[in-house]
Amino acid sequence: MGLNGRLVITPLTDRIYLTLTQALSMYLGGAPAGPAGTGKTESTKDLAKALGLLCVVTNCGEGMDYMAVGKIFSGLAQCGAWGCFDEFNRIDASVLSVISSQMQTIRNALMLHCKTFQFEGQEITMDDRMGIFITMNPGYAGRTELPESVKALFRPVVVIVPDLQQICEIMLFSEGFLLAKVLAKKMTVLYKLAREQLSKQSHYDFGLRALKSVLVMAGELKRDSPNLNEVVTGFVACDWFKLFSFSQEMSFFFLW
Ligand SMILES: Nc1ncnc2c1ncn2[C@@H]1O[C@H](COP(=O)(O)OP(=O)(O)O)[C@@H](O)[C@H]1O
Ligand SMILES: [Mg+2]
Repeated sequence: MGLNGRLVITPLTDRIYLTLTQALSMYLGGAPAGPAGTGKTESTKDLAKALGLLCVVTNCGEGMDYMAVGKIFSGLAQCGAWGCFDEFNRIDASVLSVISSQMQTIRNALMLHCKTFQFEGQEITMDDRMGIFITMNPGYAGRTELPESVKALFRPVVVIVPDLQQICEIMLFSEGFLLAKVLAKKMTVLYKLAREQLSKQSHYDFGLRALKSVLVMAGELKRDSPNLNEVVTGFVACDWFKLFSFSQEMSFFFLW
């Protein structure tokens, strides 16, 4: 997975970690569910990294059939890796019921501590470090409700609102800002206001992902000009953000 950064451990991340590890102890999978950009996929990956395991993320779609998923499961079982199936509820309901019986087979093998087991007509080895996780966006267009047989194999965890201010503060501190507390407050308030007060446009994104890229940019600015006042650096980064995101609202303003 390389030497990429780690996540900020907030109460929400903690809750996801606890649910996922608890699920593993019961030979179940974990299912973080919630809106896009709240950290479901990344938290799963980060937990795998903390445990020293490989985590393979698969983006699911309606084109996926049980053969493709079965192949992935078989690979995970043989090498003891974690599988994170992103947007799992995009898969067709008829395929999901076959997948649930595949998962049941794997779960039985795990519970009986088998060294090898029969899977999809093949005898394969079982590494019991394996894990299966799915993330979901309930309520979006083109998503199916999971059948009960699948639901029973996963422990759900609801991920709705990421702890923006805490993530902001810790990231600013780690970029070298001493005034991180004040700047984090300003940033999160700015984003909150932008999300609430600006018009709804499909190209606007005031989520965690966008916020994070501004923080990284602020860190670069700070390293490029270490003598500049921190508040100024923060404001320059925010101004860039404003120019990018508000361009349309701004042009409207200038027209007036
Ligand atoms: N606790 C956290 N600390 C730092 N960054 C986070 C945290 N949680 C999420 N992120 C960031 O938020 C962005 C969206 O996360 P992601 O897991 O892709 O969302 P989802 O899968 O819920 O759509 C990513 O860039 C991720 O790095
Ligand atoms: Mg995701």
